[in-house]
Amino acid sequence: MYVCICNALKEKDVRTAIQNGADRIGHVFKAQGCKPDCAQCFNCMRDVINEEINNCAKTCAAE
Ligand code: FES
Repeated sequence: MYVCICNALKEKDVRTAIQNGADRIGHVFKAQGCKPDCAQCFNCMRDVINEEINNCAKTCAAE
């Protein structure tokens, strides 16, 4: 699924950036070597960031 149409960023691209340390929308774009354009994807991207961070917290807490 595409999260950002302007930059053809798929959900897996966003998740990879987050898993590599991106925790803000701007960091995700930077990690993928692009910049936001229309900003229509921000809410969706924010949801993916929050989901990934919550998943990480649960995994880390279980270890
Ligand atoms: S859809 Fe992401 S900047 Fe336009």
